Amino acid sequence: MREQNGGPANAGRENDRVRSVYQSHSPEETYALGKRLGASCSPGQVYTLTGDLGAGKTLFAQGFAAGLGISEPVNSPTFTVLQEYDTGRYPFYHFDVYRIADPEEMEEVGWEDYIYGHGVSLIEWAELVAEILPEHRFCIKMERDPEKGPDYRRITVEEK
Ligand SMILES: Nc1ncnc2c1ncn2[C@@H]1O[C@H](COP(=O)(O)OP(=O)(O)OP(=O)(O)O)[C@@H](O)[C@H]1O
Ligand SMILES: [Mg+2]
Repeated sequence: MREQNGGPANAGRENDRVRSVYQSHSPEETYALGKRLGASCSPGQVYTLTGDLGAGKTLFAQGFAAGLGISEPVNSPTFTVLQEYDTGRYPFYHFDVYRIADPEEMEEVGWEDYIYGHGVSLIEWAELVAEILPEHRFCIKMERDPEKGPDYRRITVEEK
């Protein structure tokens, strides 16, 4: 995982927000970045993941879970909206809201108890429930660049 423009120097403040840009050249690098963030996260934090189909959100989430010390397999919870893991340092709530038609459906899973709870939440396709996200969150954006090959992903992490 290389950081654009040599790393921390690029982790600047823009409009009082901390933003870091990473460049991943392989699934392994994306997993490793997820693991790094999962290893350093704190209880109560919310991470949102945005990016097209196949961008690498679930792979990132799997790395993140590993960083939290979760050893059981983490799969896409597409058909369940939420999958909870309790074997890591903190409870881990993995959401995939791709199939949600209306953000109000999140009420049915009692999302507030998770998002504002003591575990760490990670939400795939978070843009679909933008209006109910907490104000303070870490936004992770995953983007392809066709000119840089099929395995390239630009990953922007921004605290809001
Ligand atoms: N640099 C990379 N980072 C992440 N994944 C990559 C990269 N290069 C190739 N891939 C491949 O892209 C796919 C990413 O799949 P993944 O399920 O993580 O995406 P997703 O964003 O969760 O998709 P969905 O929106 O369908 O849930 C995997 O098959 C992975 O091997
Ligand atoms: Mg996914």
